[in-house]
Amino acid sequence: MTITDEIKSRLDIVDVVSESVQLRKSGSSYTGFCPFHPNTRTPAFVVFPNTQTWRCFGACAEGGDIFSYVMKKEGWDFKEALKQLAQRAGVELAPQQPEDKKRRALEDKLSDLLSGAADYFHQLLLHAPQAEAVRQYVTGRGLTKETVALFKLGYALDSWDACRNHFNMQGYDDEDLVDAGLLTLNEEKDTRYDRFRNRLMIPIYDASGRMAGFGARTLDPDGLPKYPNSPQTAVFDKSRLLFGLDLARRYIREARQVVIVEGYMDVMQAWQAGFRNVVAQMGTALTEAQLRLLKRYTKRFVLALDADAAGATATLRSLEVAREVLDREADVRFDARGLVRHEGRLQADIRVVTLPEGFDPDKLIRADPSAWPSLLDQAKPIVAYVIDIATDGLDMHDGKAKAAVVQQVLPVINDVVNPVEREHYRQILARQLQVDERVLHKVAVPTSRKRVRAVGQPVEPSRTAPDSLESVGLAVAIRGSTAASEMRRADFLRQCLAFPHLISQIDKKLAIHQQALITEADFTRLDDKALWRQIRQRPTHWPVATMDDLWDSLDDDEYLRERVQTLLSIPQTPESELDRLPDRLVLSVLDWRLERTKSLLSEVERLFRESQAQENLEMLELYGQQLRELPSQVRSIDRARGAMSATGRRQTKEHRNMKRNTVRGD
Ligand code: UTP
Ligand code: MN
Repeated sequence: MTITDEIKSRLDIVDVVSESVQLRKSGSSYTGFCPFHPNTRTPAFVVFPNTQTWRCFGACAEGGDIFSYVMKKEGWDFKEALKQLAQRAGVELAPQQPEDKKRRALEDKLSDLLSGAADYFHQLLLHAPQAEAVRQYVTGRGLTKETVALFKLGYALDSWDACRNHFNMQGYDDEDLVDAGLLTLNEEKDTRYDRFRNRLMIPIYDASGRMAGFGARTLDPDGLPKYPNSPQTAVFDKSRLLFGLDLARRYIREARQVVIVEGYMDVMQAWQAGFRNVVAQMGTALTEAQLRLLKRYTKRFVLALDADAAGATATLRSLEVAREVLDREADVRFDARGLVRHEGRLQADIRVVTLPEGFDPDKLIRADPSAWPSLLDQAKPIVAYVIDIATDGLDMHDGKAKAAVVQQVLPVINDVVNPVEREHYRQILARQLQVDERVLHKVAVPTSRKRVRAVGQPVEPSRTAPDSLESVGLAVAIRGSTAASEMRRADFLRQCLAFPHLISQIDKKLAIHQQALITEADFTRLDDKALWRQIRQRPTHWPVATMDDLWDSLDDDEYLRERVQTLLSIPQTPESELDRLPDRLVLSVLDWRLERTKSLLSEVERLFRESQAQENLEMLELYGQQLRELPSQVRSIDRARGAMSATGRRQTKEHRNMKRNTVRGD
């Protein structure tokens, strides 16, 4: 996670905006009077908690994230905003080490590639004829089109090289694909092949919405493993990720509680039913790193365990033994002692509930959504849960069985940090077993850390600073913008860096087609916006402006320099193609504007329906107006695009004719 992501994950834009604007909740968003333009009657300023963005639908017609908000509001430059928000978020701005930079550059590259892969699989799921069966499967599992789009579910073709070929064509070599976990490397035979074949692809994002890897469900009913996932990569570490957290974090804060389930389907089904503070651990026991991640949003955790995990716990009396014979990688999804220790260290409140036999949250919610909140109400503190399970059905006449329960439960109780709480559970256990509580103090139970480590999870050293502080950077994850558009923007900037004199030509062409000139609003990344401001400020009469000028103008702005360096790794257009470059870039601009306007339109359509349902007249008027304007913007961009590509074709033809004529010598 980069430093900006880290800051964003800790702050809530609603809180920040609320300090300067009076916001009113209106459906899923908040509205108020825009602080950036003189106000009319309508509160045209909308804050979207889900995406942590803001937008003025009035005179400004502008939007952005928490950074752009404070920069605009306070007149800060990016560095200042970073400093201020970091302070507010309690994030330390560590100086960057060269190794950090290198590592982050690699992470960025992998993440971009993976996000391209998510788009690729998603398109296949939506449109490929071969995906018909999986489309039916998804529908059969009760997932709606919206859910499929939101979670960007995808399909990996039943092929050994389709994915490989696709990304080779885009300029990624096999090594990149192996690093990203998309290809499997067979070192013995020195062959590489698609890791995911004929699978439903589930993208896994980190807390800030950056792509990290995939879970991939088999479509074969007996296929094993059922959900293979990306291998460990520079960006995928199962023990530090939670599925769904990027979407859920805001709701976790709102609900003041997070529910942790076992599966991908559980999260998606819960989301669809409106239960959105839900994340999934992915087939491993919860780690302290995961709990720390969640702790940023809430102190209250509820574990909703599948009945089979509970089944393992039900045999708690023999569990310790069982674990000793299993290896460490064994399926230990519920580690009571580990959890109690985490709870103490993190000062959290962890509760547990098990699903009824034969149900997982997915199935339960589909059967009866109202069963979900009532189930969660039954969650118990870990120790109480363990006592219940261990003593369930215990034969009160069997002294040995009772002693075994004590051996099992007492270590868990001893791990409780708070002495009052610890005493409380001792009393409960004594009562349940019908023994004198004083006896429990005399029982010797294993406490050595070593032993615990051998039978359960490896105990992680607790860190003083959150891990993500190790990385400092600027990339901002934008889930609304596709990887393709981000690539267009990067290429655009790259060419403008190389050929600044073309910018005025591009502006002219945009003006001819009645399109707005390029502004920083065209870019989504903060560093790109800042860079564009720098580029604009430079004299653009070539050859006066050189890369060196720009470089110097960025003097100590490490963040921008870093971005420039990344951009410079994109190939520069050869001089021979220079005459066609402006047209190509204008088309790029139109493409990303079209995408953005369309996605804005669909967002507004949703908001309009929401306001309709709430009979919110004011908002209806606001969004209604947008619904009239946005389609005409779409048409206008479309028209310009059509005109541009027609000219492009004509020019190419003329160009070709000219060449032919020259050859012929007329
Ligand atoms: P389950 O086997 O309970 O699957 O695994 P499920 O979620 O109910 O899936 P459906 O309903 O059959 O599609 C629970 C979770 O454990 C992880 C996944 O996160 C899965 O959702 N898991 C399971 C893996 O990571 N790998 C596996 O091979 C199996
Ligand atoms: Mn299931």
